[in-house]
Amino acid sequence: AEKWVRMVTAQTPTNIAVIKYWGKRDETLILPVNDSISVTLDPSHLCTTTTVAVSPTFDQDRMWLNGKEISLSGGRFQSCLREIRARACDVEDKEKGIKIVKKDWDKLHVHMASYNNFPTAAGLASSAAGFACLVFALAKLMNAKEDNGELSAIARQGSGSACRSLFGGFVKWNMGKVEDGSDSRAVQVVDDKHWDDLVIIIAVVSSRQKETSSTTGMRETVETSLLLQHRAKEVVPKRIIKMEEAIKNRDFASFAQLTCADSNQFHAVCLDTSPPIFYMNDTSHRIISCIEKWNCCEGTPQVAYTFDAGPNAVLIAQNRKTAAQLLQKLLFFFPPNSDTDLNSYVIGDKSILK
Ligand code: PMV
Repeated sequence: AEKWVRMVTAQTPTNIAVIKYWGKRDETLILPVNDSISVTLDPSHLCTTTTVAVSPTFDQDRMWLNGKEISLSGGRFQSCLREIRARACDVEDKEKGIKIVKKDWDKLHVHMASYNNFPTAAGLASSAAGFACLVFALAKLMNAKEDNGELSAIARQGSGSACRSLFGGFVKWNMGKVEDGSDSRAVQVVDDKHWDDLVIIIAVVSSRQKETSSTTGMRETVETSLLLQHRAKEVVPKRIIKMEEAIKNRDFASFAQLTCADSNQFHAVCLDTSPPIFYMNDTSHRIISCIEKWNCCEGTPQVAYTFDAGPNAVLIAQNRKTAAQLLQKLLFFFPPNSDTDLNSYVIGDKSILK
């Protein structure tokens, strides 16, 4: 057999939702019950690097995550691979003597290796960066000509939140209407330069893996929570419009108010699930109280907080000056080696897919 290997490496940052996605209307296609909006982080802090390779010597598709081989039998990997293979095109690399024609892709196998530079499955949206990066790298490897919007609809089938990591800046995931999910994809609201004085600080309260996966949690919430139905129908549609306006106008007061309210409603919906799901812990609650008091004292919001499916706080400061004040407060109220397990602060700003 021929001996060549063709390789592509891509790097994708994670994203943090400011209007949350929680609940699927279709579990296989991963179609959400509401729109969501997120901010994409700087790739230097929380990102995934993925290398994909193809060679006629590979006899099966294989995947490694942080150096450990993982099973590809789950439907999510299979969906992403199938969708990209269906869009693969001819590839020619004269220097290496590689020539792959479209129909060869059905027989060729790929090896994929992915690294996160942050804790996996600890509620820091590792799957968001992971599937976005995998789909982007596979598309480059197989010379699929799809734009990032179309790739986002494929990454969505790996992990819902992944569809928003194909763009930088602020990104909206439209829930879509059609049954096949083709219109459930991400669009950029504003690019990473639009609001570049925001500073994002992630307070790592615990890097342990979460107890309830988002898939299980969402399923139980959809099945048992009446609050979720109210949220999806009545609350989020109005919030999405207001959030887009706040972002476009760089209106930090509205942005912070909407971000905090939406995080709190997401965790309320988790609590409204039977049996209830707890993602935040005492340290998370103390961080919320601390920020709320500060914002109240100043008369106008200084910092916004948001929490995903874990206890870690994502704090968004209006500018460097408030970020410095925030760090001072965190160090004072949550000193390292104290009884809280808050142990590190990751500082980042927004950026774009590289
Ligand atoms: O894409 P998943 O299945 O990891 O779900 C992510 C859910 C949240 O992070 C809690 C919210 C969001 O919109 O990212």
